[in-house]
This record gives sequence, structure tokens and C-alpha cells, in this order.
Amino acid sequence: MMRIEQLVELRATLRECPRPLGLVPTMGNLHAGHVELARRARETSATVVTTIFVNPTQFGPNEDFDRYPRTLERDEEALASVGTDIVFAPSVDEVYPDGRDTPTRVSVDALADTLCGLDRPGHFDGVATVVTKLFNIVQPELAFFGEKDWQQLTIIRRLAYDLDVPLEIIGVPTVRADDGLALSSRNQYLSEEERARAPKLYQTIEAIRIGLAAGRRDFDSLIARGASELADAGFDVDYVAIRDARTLAEASPETHEFRILAAAQLGGARLIDNVGHRAG
Ligand code: PAJ
Repeated sequence: MMRIEQLVELRATLRECPRPLGLVPTMGNLHAGHVELARRARETSATVVTTIFVNPTQFGPNEDFDRYPRTLERDEEALASVGTDIVFAPSVDEVYPDGRDTPTRVSVDALADTLCGLDRPGHFDGVATVVTKLFNIVQPELAFFGEKDWQQLTIIRRLAYDLDVPLEIIGVPTVRADDGLALSSRNQYLSEEERARAPKLYQTIEAIRIGLAAGRRDFDSLIARGASELADAGFDVDYVAIRDARTLAEASPETHEFRILAAAQLGGARLIDNVGHRAG
């Protein structure tokens, strides 16, 4: 496995690499969820490139960019264990040589101005722009993203479609701890006592999924009940939502493919999760 930090070196190396090439974009501090993306990439790609880049443009001014854990050496061990070929770990200057406020940005407005976009203004423009840059830098045939970040995955699928990026986006199901909590780098901000309460987020959206599967379509009361149960468990709720899985529009009785999404602050961590339900 090679670590590459310079863009020119990456481009030169990739010219010689066997295809198809699979790209796994990450911000590092890898856990079993990220490693699952790399493992899936290994199954289908002749060359696997994992990027590790804590992208400053997707963090708000009061968010955790500075304290986001950077654990490159441990990450490389995890990636080597599943057979990644190249780790691309550029500096901020390498990715944004003219500074981070570039005049060109990628925005996916209708999909970004809702759910997490309301609580994190500009976040998805930062994600969409850096992911577009990574697509252009690496030029993969396949790119792997987690369903854990459903809104992000939806936005990336849409930008690839709208901008005719010639690749296939593969969504990988969420990897969870035994008690149901979705694995996330931010879980380590939880105290022991908060960690014990954290699975309530998954239990809440699962309960809504079971309601939908049983034929319930009283979306507002399902949402209100979920939000109040989370509040009772000490979560500071950003949203509980039932949406069309592809458009992220509010669910209606005609919706076939639902996504139930929630975001809430628990102590020092902002947790998100989602599950799907397809109507028969
Ligand atoms: P990061 O939070 O490091 O996540 C990298 C990838 O791992 C994303 O596609 C995310 O959805 C996926 N992932 C995280 N937790 C997961 C889990 N429990 N199960 C399955 N997949 C999981 O998401 C980002 O980085 C950034 O926004 C990025 C796309 C790299 C752009 O900077």
C-alpha cells in the first residue's frame, strides 16, 4: 500500500493502475464502517484508492474541524488489512492551493437546503465541492459512500448525474454496533453514560419504520412521538423526518420508497441516523 500526499504524484501513479478504479473518500479516523466501504471497493475494483482528507470547507465556524481526530497511521493499518492500494492523504494547501474560498462551488440546492442543511449552513456545498474535486482528481469508475449519511449520498448521486460524471456511485449499508448505534467518528465525543443512551436514536427511527411497514401513514404523529421520546431520553433533537428516499421531499401517502431520518445532539456529539422502508 502506498501513501501519496501530492496531486501530481497521484495522477502519475494512477496512469499506470489497472482498472476499474474504486474510490473511497473519507476524513480518516476510520472505524469498521469506513473499512467496510474499502472492503466493498476491494471486491469490485482492480485498484482501490482511499482518500483521507479532513475537508475544512464542510465544517461550520463553531464545528469540530480543529478537534476532529487525525489518526493517519492507525487508519493506514486498517486499510492495509482489507487491501487498499493507495491512500491519498493530501494537505489542505494541496487541495485548495488558492485558499479555501474558491469562486467555483458545487451546490445541490433543493437537496441541501433541508434536514442537516438547515442546522449546518454551507456544509453540503463543502461536501459536494470536495467530492467533485476528488472525482476529477482520481477519475474512478466506482465510488463508495455510506448510507449512514443518506442526505450526503443522495446529494452526491444527484451531482454525479447532473454533471455527467462518468462513474457509478455505490451506497453501502450502515455498519452498527451490537446495540444498534451507527458507527461514527463522533461517537467518541460521548461520555460512557451518553454512549449507553445513544442507541435510542436508532430505536426511535426503527419504531417509525415498523409503523410504516404496518401500514401507518399518520406521518406527523409518528414524527411527533419519535421526537418527544428522544427529548425525554435527554437528546436535543434537530429533526425526526419521514421523506421520499430519492428526492428527500416530505413523505406523502403515494410515497413508495421512504427514508426515516433523525439528527440530535447528545452531550458533546451530534448524532445522525436513518433507515429505509419500501412500500410493498
Ligand atoms: P467521513 O465522515 O469520514 O465518512 C466517509 C464515508 O464513510 C462516508 O461515505 C460515510 O457515509 C461512510 N460511513 C461513515 N460511517 C459509516 C457507517 N457506520 N457505516 C457505513 N458507512 C459509514 O462523509 C465524509 O467523511 C465526508 O463528508 C466526505 C464524503 C469524505 C467528503 O469530505
